[in-house]
Amino acid sequence: MLRGKKVLLGVTGSIAAYKSAFLTRLLITAGAEVKVVLTPAASDFVTPLTLSTLSKNPVYSKYIENEEEGTWTNHVDLGLWADLMIIAPATSNTLSKMASGECDNLLMGVYMSAKCPVYFAPAMDLDMYAHPTTKANIEKLQSFGNKMIAATSGELASGLVGEGRMAEPEDIVAFIEKDLLQAAPLYGKRVLINGGPTYEPIDSVRFIGNHSSGKMAHSLAKAATDLGAEVTLVLGPTQVTFDFSGFQVVRVTTAQEMYEAMHQRREGADYIICSAAVSDFRPKVMVNKKIKKDQGVPTIELVENPDILSSLGQVKAEDQILIGFALETENEKEYARKKLEAKNLNAVVMNTLRDSGAGFGHDTNKVYVYTRDEQWTEFDLNSKEVIAQNLWKLFKTL
Ligand code: PMT
Repeated sequence: MLRGKKVLLGVTGSIAAYKSAFLTRLLITAGAEVKVVLTPAASDFVTPLTLSTLSKNPVYSKYIENEEEGTWTNHVDLGLWADLMIIAPATSNTLSKMASGECDNLLMGVYMSAKCPVYFAPAMDLDMYAHPTTKANIEKLQSFGNKMIAATSGELASGLVGEGRMAEPEDIVAFIEKDLLQAAPLYGKRVLINGGPTYEPIDSVRFIGNHSSGKMAHSLAKAATDLGAEVTLVLGPTQVTFDFSGFQVVRVTTAQEMYEAMHQRREGADYIICSAAVSDFRPKVMVNKKIKKDQGVPTIELVENPDILSSLGQVKAEDQILIGFALETENEKEYARKKLEAKNLNAVVMNTLRDSGAGFGHDTNKVYVYTRDEQWTEFDLNSKEVIAQNLWKLFKTL
């Protein structure tokens, strides 16, 4: 869930500040972009150079960066830049300032300008952590909507043992990942998608196939995963190498295998999306060796493959959303409209080979979506990633 997120990490003056280097590295590994703001006291425990090297961004600590040139750090811009803010470690001093609005350093200016979710991970000695003022400050911060990643129990810098150790960086990242996931719009939804071509074997070396790359399906799977859904992608034999992290992939070759894979997984799916280019026909017989040309031109008898989308439409549960694709070359809207009715769909996504950059193989697509309310929605030519994100915005309204 942290992939692509802009994270502002505020570090305050505690011995636990050394852990901010590990936290920065974990956030970067999770795919976040990280900017760090240090309080003046934090710089005594961890150097800006360490954190700027790990975050690959400048580290901010003062309003006035260069007194001679008179340049300053715009705390408002920094606060508004962030998708989320983490204050770790958060000392009792900083918790108190956050609770009362005492804005005497850059971090506090950024915190008070930020509009994003704020997480804080307290770190202090056990008596300070247990003190009524700390408890009251924490309660106040939580009442503002800030989320606490509680301190844990263990050996403290003072030598005492008790509650007050900052949560470990792995646990901070796990807490935030889980929290973001639970707030995601498709959290708890199950999504089943098919994509790519199918290959129907003629003999041991030849097949009937098509030019589908699976890129559209992969983008739909990735976008749904980013929105918090549990996603399964049933993918035909594409040669493209994809990153499948975050969702389950089932590889199939033929239309029959794709049919079986989809039906085995359809129950309980909230959304089923069929974007595969399924071969309508297959050779009646597969020859179990290479057909030799000196035996003359072969006649290949074809039989019809199952229509996966239609068969899913016939057994569709009432609360299940079923979406088909349509790749057309003429009378596009008319053909697409007919598919909606004939296959019992909630929506049909049409792309036409007459639009340049749309359809098979491209990194881009242009689509026209027809829904049961008889409305067309158009998404202009864009990367398949952006098209998928826009499609999900629409699918969520169905
Ligand atoms: O994979 P890419 O290179 O990224 O390209 C994406 C795409 C062009 C393949 C995709 O955007 C697309 O249009 N997919 C549907 C292609 C297609 O075969 O359309 P169709 O009009 O023939 O089929 C209509 C619908 O019926 C589709 O949802 C298809 O999955 C389904 N179908 C078709 C035949 C069949 N035997 N079983 C099916 O389920």
